[in-house]
Amino acid sequence: MSNYTTVAETKEIPSGERKRVEINGRRISIFNINNAYYAINDTCPHKGTAPLIRGELDGLGIKCPNHGYRFDLETGECNIDSVFNTKVYPIKVKNNSILIDFD
Ligand code: FES
Repeated sequence: MSNYTTVAETKEIPSGERKRVEINGRRISIFNINNAYYAINDTCPHKGTAPLIRGELDGLGIKCPNHGYRFDLETGECNIDSVFNTKVYPIKVKNNSILIDFD
């Protein structure tokens, strides 16, 4: 079952921008890349502390600001080891609102 919740307005995250939201104690980074939105768990799973929101984009991936592990924004896959794969969330836009599915 899906559980879409509004997390931001589209005007808050124009193309090329990013924003971190906190919902139900979860920190999630939202990226707008060429007007497509991606949502990924903000905390890097390598050491469990680094915020991916401060990372460098690499195509449809984000590189952790600490050690540079890359996480695919569509799948959450880590390029170093699958043990570090992280969670991505389904995301959609409706009536200028950005919604994430937390299920
Ligand atoms: S803490 Fe993110 S790659 Fe090491």
